[in-house]
Amino acid sequence: MTDDRVIIFDTTLRDGEQSPGISLNTSEKLEIAQQLARLGVDVIEAGFPIASPGDFEAVQAIACQVEGPIIAGLARVHVGDIDAAYGAVRDAERPRIHTFVSTSDIHIEHQLASTREDVKGQARAAVAHARSLVDDVEFSPMDATRADAEYTAEVLQIALDEGATTINIPDTVGYTMPQEYAAFLGRLYELVPGLRDVVVSVHCHDDLGLAVANSFAGLQAGARQVECAINGIGERAGNASLEEIVMLLHTRAADIGLRTGVNTREIARTSRLISRLTGYPVQPNKAIVGRNAFAHESGIHQDGVLKERSTYEIMDATTVGLDANSLVLGKHSGRHALKSALQELGFEVSGQTLNTAFKRFKEIADKKKQVTALDLEALVTDELRDQLRSYTLERFAVEASTRRPPHATVELRTPDGDLARADFTGDGPVDAIFRAINAATKREARLREFRIDSVTGGQDALGEASVVLELAGQSAGGQGVSTDIIEAAALAYVRALSSAERRVLAAAEAPPAEAAEAELTPTP
Ligand code: KIV
Ligand code: ZN
Repeated sequence: MTDDRVIIFDTTLRDGEQSPGISLNTSEKLEIAQQLARLGVDVIEAGFPIASPGDFEAVQAIACQVEGPIIAGLARVHVGDIDAAYGAVRDAERPRIHTFVSTSDIHIEHQLASTREDVKGQARAAVAHARSLVDDVEFSPMDATRADAEYTAEVLQIALDEGATTINIPDTVGYTMPQEYAAFLGRLYELVPGLRDVVVSVHCHDDLGLAVANSFAGLQAGARQVECAINGIGERAGNASLEEIVMLLHTRAADIGLRTGVNTREIARTSRLISRLTGYPVQPNKAIVGRNAFAHESGIHQDGVLKERSTYEIMDATTVGLDANSLVLGKHSGRHALKSALQELGFEVSGQTLNTAFKRFKEIADKKKQVTALDLEALVTDELRDQLRSYTLERFAVEASTRRPPHATVELRTPDGDLARADFTGDGPVDAIFRAINAATKREARLREFRIDSVTGGQDALGEASVVLELAGQSAGGQGVSTDIIEAAALAYVRALSSAERRVLAAAEAPPAEAAEAELTPTP
């Protein structure tokens, strides 16, 4: 790679998935990874394989099925972690093991209850072991920005001696500032000249709102890999936002002189998919992907933009893929029109899936005059997500008034094909239908998160619901789309319940040792 090329290392599926309340299953992670490949990221950190059998399975599925990017698996400096990461990524075209250990005294003393000497030995053994398995090994000194630079440099030298090919400098707690981070990297380059021969990476958290600024300072100091996540999701306040870094380098290319391999036109779609599947909304004023990022409200601004866009716009909305909503279908559109509209959106749908999508499209088109690209995207991804061993919502009725408590009746098809019916009274219509679903399925699921949004503007907009629930210690999410928000909520609940039940079954089948390990494994 040339010196002006920045490697985009996406950690949406690893650090991003560590955000509270996010619970993605393997097929959702695979769908995200396929979209990240379409976006053109260079590395996908697909997960932390030792953390649970589910994490292992997802990383393995991504390694086997996603072509293009390097697939990385995270591992502490333990043999078991590294072997699990290797087992999960080994089938990738280009596998990477990413191993880490803290170098700050706060972490060494209080979290690891270890010593600086011990940490050096662990780092040496881990990188050597990982290198005996794969050629591409990344090493991270966790909490580096609060660690002693001289000691961190000694650990980095060891990692290089053992063959690490990428050295990542994490600002784990989002504490550093741009000049300080750049100076820290500069000091490490001085102390460890060998860093000039490998890729240096930045990994910044957003606790002080500086993740992107710090990452950029790191690039200016010589780093050529940025670890980031779509919509900036991640542990606590999140990671540096991928779309912000990429569009900064793109928009100011003439001044910065660095470039990425990202297809910026896929940014908006990727952002919507992540928001949809994680249940994490994107704030309206979020840079690049917020609903208002390209909207002009004040009269003076509108006037300026109408005369000449560049008066108040530094980027063109089409560059990030925000023009896709021009495609429109109506109730007279046929199967062929739907198929080609879907193709235009990047979905190859045929056979039974096309039939189901067409049926759903017709239902929606009956209620909504115009079905836009955004509606289709929401509908199709929602439909395609249905899996084996799911409950299906056959019918429901909800009565709500100011006089009586809301009452819901539901009829569901169980995974075994039986019909199950129940009714329930709740605090509100959504609560009533969720309780009725629990009663019909005889499951004691507990609602953890619930959100409802509209897919587009307008009175006849589709409602999109997301639910995260917990069943017997397993949490899972689901989405539902409909012009009726109660139906959208019920669809989302039924899907989340189906997914949680599959997880409960999988956990019961997992070998006891693995299950115990999963519980004991802290997340980084
Ligand atoms: O924030 C952090 O330090 C991490 C490491 C595992 C790289 O996520
Ligand atoms: Zn992190």
